[in-house]
Amino acid sequence: MTNIKRYIEEKSFVFEPYLLERVEILEAPVSIKESMAYSLKAGGKRIRPMLLLAVLETYGQKAEKGLDVACALEMIHTYSLIHDDLPAMDDDALRRGQPTNHKVFGEATAILAGDGLLTYAFELIASSTAHSPEHLIKLIQMLASAAGPEGMVGGQMADMEGEKRMLSLPELEYIHLHKTGRLLAFSVMAGALIGGADKRETALLEKYAQHIGLAFQIRDDILDVEGTEEEIGKRVGSDESNEKSTYPSLLSMAGAKEKLAEELKGAYDALASLGRPAPLLESFASLIVERTT
Ligand code: IPE
Ligand code: IPE
Ligand code: MG
Ligand code: MG
Ligand code: MG
Repeated sequence: MTNIKRYIEEKSFVFEPYLLERVEILEAPVSIKESMAYSLKAGGKRIRPMLLLAVLETYGQKAEKGLDVACALEMIHTYSLIHDDLPAMDDDALRRGQPTNHKVFGEATAILAGDGLLTYAFELIASSTAHSPEHLIKLIQMLASAAGPEGMVGGQMADMEGEKRMLSLPELEYIHLHKTGRLLAFSVMAGALIGGADKRETALLEKYAQHIGLAFQIRDDILDVEGTEEEIGKRVGSDESNEKSTYPSLLSMAGAKEKLAEELKGAYDALASLGRPAPLLESFASLIVERTT
């Protein structure tokens, strides 16, 4: 097992029970709790929360300091997947190796489970006792911006509007950087804020984050063609059947892989200028580029 896989496994012992407990303690109808917990429990690589914890670790801070924010981030990511799979959006039946939320609980409950995860995420951060009031406000602002119309939601909108026509490369890059890049970048930027990175380091970490954010979605597009349903836990060929422009469809598969390698190099270069060892962040970048799940 690689070091990074071991790191993720180790941190999962703390993160997983903490995440699920956040839903168990809710005083809410059992059906909404079940539906929220179902998608959270279904698996998932936990790349975003683990990346946040890895940045904290790079700055010598304890993982506990980032747990609430890491949970909030995974909840928002999970909500985005529940809604992304709905019949009105990508209309997918499989997610994280399980039937999608709406297939099990029905569309109305799936919509509410997504709404619940989204709003609860902000309650979790706002109630966290691990941060100063200034940091709390900043974290809430950063997460809202990353998830909202200037971030993930804007990217999802552009992605939907781009269906059934050939996009230009800059249009596709906008979609990838927003629908996927902004939330991934939040993992890094939140870690930098909580970890106490200075201005110069924060700017370099932002560069790193943009490269791995774009790389993550290019890899997702490649796996939509080359992956197996068993490994990726979702339908293969979803993009083609929804007539989406993707990196492989615009650049060819070889071109998409070349672009992916360029993004990895960009991420490594940013880390090399950081001036402190960041082996975990290097491994994260290669994990994202090489992943088959
Ligand atoms: C899938 O994200 C959606 C994209 C943004 C490409 P992940 O590949 O991180 O999904 P999980 O969390 O592991 O299921
Ligand atoms: C969606 O991108 C990213 C989100 C914001 C949920 P995709 O539609 O490509 O994600 P998958 O392939 O269904 O996981
Ligand atoms: Mg989609
Ligand atoms: Mg989808
Ligand atoms: Mg995809």
